[in-house]
Amino acid sequence: MGVLNSCATGDAQSSAPAGQNEANEVKAAASGDEGHPLDRQQALELLAKSDQYLNPIAGDANQDSGLKPLSIPQEGASESPRNDGIHDTQTNSIAVLQDPSKAMAAFPRDRRNQVDWVAALDQGLIQPRADLLGETQMQTMDMDILMKNTQFMPWVKFPHLQHTKWLACSNCHPDIFIPQQDANPISMNKVLRGEYCGVCHDKVAFALFICERCHSVPHEGSGEKWW
Ligand code: HEC
Ligand code: HEC
Ligand code: HEC
Repeated sequence: MGVLNSCATGDAQSSAPAGQNEANEVKAAASGDEGHPLDRQQALELLAKSDQYLNPIAGDANQDSGLKPLSIPQEGASESPRNDGIHDTQTNSIAVLQDPSKAMAAFPRDRRNQVDWVAALDQGLIQPRADLLGETQMQTMDMDILMKNTQFMPWVKFPHLQHTKWLACSNCHPDIFIPQQDANPISMNKVLRGEYCGVCHDKVAFALFICERCHSVPHEGSGEKWW
């Protein structure tokens, strides 16, 4: 969702313990304190000092005028800005990216240890922009929809508020959902196959494993939590 691009991680960073220093150094230098942007050589030198960005491959270190070559990402690296086939390592810009494992160290987690973005937003840890230049505000709307066709599972409470903090009405209406209560033949099977809620959940929004985040309203007939 490009969430990180628009992140201001204020608290998370100031409360981050030791280990943040190198990243700060990279950032301070990269932002060019005296108006001098890093050249490619300087950027790579800074990066090489910090293996959270790039892991030099032992043995190949001397090829290409002493620059450390970029390596295949290691386990857990997919979240970090480095040579993962997604980030552009041919420019200096990689040096100014935050390392998510540090920037998000203090972020609230769900019970599967993934970032709880709703809580992160509520706690002010992130301030996503409504548009690229930060000129407009999100149009939020507080309206819950209760979905009761859930058999033995607790009912589903769909909250417009938490969604409209990130999404425009047109992200969902009318293509994914007709804007009328009970007008959409949603079922768990369809959600699991990537329709309705499954257009986003399990992809860019929290995973379907955490049943109770959607099935949050117990009713007569929904028994003890079994999942
Ligand atoms: C992203 C939200 C979401 C999550 C997470 C979720 N569900 Fe659902 N589930 C729904 C919606 C929406 C419906 C349809 C409700 C309606 O139409 O009234 C539904 C319906 C169901 C039904 C009713 C039968 C059917 O096929 O529609 C069952 C059973 C069910 N879910 C089980 C689960 C279980 C078990 C989990 C966790 C492994 C889970 N759900 C996680 C949204 C979710
Ligand atoms: C993340 C998807 C999503 C977004 C974004 C969203 N909605 Fe909805 N909306 C829904 C769902 C789901 C329903 C319930 C449909 C159902 O019950 O079948 C719904 C229902 C509605 C309804 C019908 C209420 C009723 O009582 O019949 C209206 C009106 C509505 N939305 C307006 C809006 C407006 C206005 C916005 C933007 C401010 C918006 N929605 C944003 C998903 C969304
Ligand atoms: C267009 C994308 C999109 C669709 C469609 C969508 N969601 Fe979401 N949903 C999000 C995003 C983004 C968030 C906030 C980020 C996150 O929690 O991962 C969110 C958050 C939520 C939350 C808030 C959880 C909390 O902790 O407060 C619930 C509940 C939820 N969705 C249920 C549903 C259900 C049920 C449906 C289908 C009826 C649905 N969503 C459809 C994108 C979507």
